[in-house]
Amino acid sequence: MSENAQLIIGDKTYSLPVIEGTEGEKAIDISKLRDLTGYVTLDVGYKNTGATTSAITFLDGELGILKYRGYPIEELAEKSSFIEVAYLLIHGELPNKEQLDYFQYEISRHTLVHEDLKKFFDGFPSKSHPMGQLSSLVCSLSAYYPESLKQVQTEEELHLSIIKMLAKMTTLVSWIYKKSLGHPYIYPQNKYDYVSNFVYMTFGQRTEPYVLDPVIVKAMNTLLILHADHEQNCSTSTVRIVGSSESNIYASVSSGISALWGPLHGGANQAVIEMLEQIKEDGGDTDKWIAKAKDKNDPFRLMGFGHRVYKNFDPRAKIIKKACDEILEKLGIDDEVLEIAKKLEEVALKDPYFVERKLYPNVDFYSGIIYRALGFPTDMFTVLFALGRLPGWIAQWKEMKEHKEPIGRPRQIYTGKVNRTYVELKDR
Ligand code: SDX
Repeated sequence: MSENAQLIIGDKTYSLPVIEGTEGEKAIDISKLRDLTGYVTLDVGYKNTGATTSAITFLDGELGILKYRGYPIEELAEKSSFIEVAYLLIHGELPNKEQLDYFQYEISRHTLVHEDLKKFFDGFPSKSHPMGQLSSLVCSLSAYYPESLKQVQTEEELHLSIIKMLAKMTTLVSWIYKKSLGHPYIYPQNKYDYVSNFVYMTFGQRTEPYVLDPVIVKAMNTLLILHADHEQNCSTSTVRIVGSSESNIYASVSSGISALWGPLHGGANQAVIEMLEQIKEDGGDTDKWIAKAKDKNDPFRLMGFGHRVYKNFDPRAKIIKKACDEILEKLGIDDEVLEIAKKLEEVALKDPYFVERKLYPNVDFYSGIIYRALGFPTDMFTVLFALGRLPGWIAQWKEMKEHKEPIGRPRQIYTGKVNRTYVELKDR
C-alpha cells in the first residue's frame, strides 16, 4: 500500500512518498524535498532521520527488540558463536558447516600482521589509551595491503580485505593488551577458532602451555555477539559515511573505532566501571549519586544508563546482567561493584526522573564487570567493544557499497554573519 505524506508550505501542498520497512517502520522519503520546495530539513543529532535502508539489523526501542538478519539476539547469544554471527551479518545467512569451516579457515590464514607493524607498537607510550593505538594500527594496515586502496575492487579483492580485517583485529587487540603489560606478544595458532585464538593470544604465556578456560571462551563469544551490530549508531554511521567517499576498509573501520571511543558511546563501558569504583570509594551511597545524576547543575551522568533508541530495557543489558552472575560465580569472583551496579539499577528504575525519561541500563552498564572478571584492565573495555562491533561495521560498509550509495554530505542552515567587506589589519 503506497501512501504519500502531504506537506503544506504557504499556499502549496507537496506530496512526498512514504516507504515502509519489513518490520512496519515508516519513513517519509525527502530525497527530492529541496528540488521540490527549496527547503532542507533540520534534525541535529539525526534523532528522527533515516540515513539509509538496511537489511542487517532491526531494533525496536520501545519494545526492547534486537535482531540480526531476522534472528533474535537472545537466540544467537545462547546458541551461536561469534564467528558464525560475523558470517551471518556479513553474508546475510547462517552458514552451513562447510561454509563456516571455510570462513574460519580463510581467517586463520590471515591472522599474522606484517612484522614491521611492531614498530608502530614500539612508538606508543606504554600507558597510551588502547583505542588510540587500535585506531592508528587499523588505519596503518592500508599501508601493507595497497590492493585495498583500489577504487574499484573485484569481489575477490573485497572479500579478501574483509577476511584480512577480521583476522588481524584479534592479533592487534591482543598485542595492545600484551604491550600494556610489557609482556611479549603471543602469535596466533591456526588450530584455534576465532575467539579461542583471541583468548590464547591475550592470556597465553610464552613460558608454559596455555589451557583455554571454556568459561572465558563462552563468555567472550557471548559478549562479542551482543556487541556485533546495532544498526545506524554513531560509529556505524561514521564507518558508512567514510566508506561512502570510497575510502578503503581499514580507514573506514579506523574512523568507526575513533567514534566508538567517546564516553557517550562505546567508551561508556569504561566510564561505568570508573563510576562504580568512584561510588565504592565514596562509601557506596547510591542515593547520593542518583541525586547527582538528576541534578541539572551537576555534570555527572549515570553512565551505562539511557539510550538514543531504547526507551525500554536494552535486551543486551538483560542478557549481560544474567551472564554476570553466572560467570562471576563460575570464576569464583565476588566483585563489590556488581552489587553497587544492581543497587543503582534498582533505585533508578523506581525513580520518576529515570522512569519519565525512559532511562534504562544499556549494553555498557554490566559488560565492564564481566570484562574485569575475565582479567581485562578497564581501558581495554572499549577495544573489546570494537572487536565485537567489527563484523557489524564491515557488514554495513559492504551494504553501503552494494547499494552504490552516494557520498554522504548533509546540508545545514547557515546562521553566521552576512555580506561583510574585508578590513585591512591596520584598520581593525
Ligand atoms: C551505546 O546508538 C547506539 O545504538 C549505541 C550503542 C551501540 O550498540 O552502538 O547502543 C552503544 O553507545 C550505548 C550508550 C552508552 N552511553 C552511556 O551509557 C552514556 C550515558 N547515557 C547518556 O549520555 C545518554 O543516555 C545517551 C547519550 C546514551 C543518549 O542521549 P540522548 O538520546 O541524546 O538523550 P538526551 O541526552 O537528550 O537525554 C534525554 C534526557 C535529558 O534530560 P532532560 O534534558 O530531558 O531533562 O535524559 C537525561 C538527559 O539529561 N539523561 C540522563 C542520562 N541519559 C539521559 N540523565 C542522567 N544520566 C544519564 N545517563
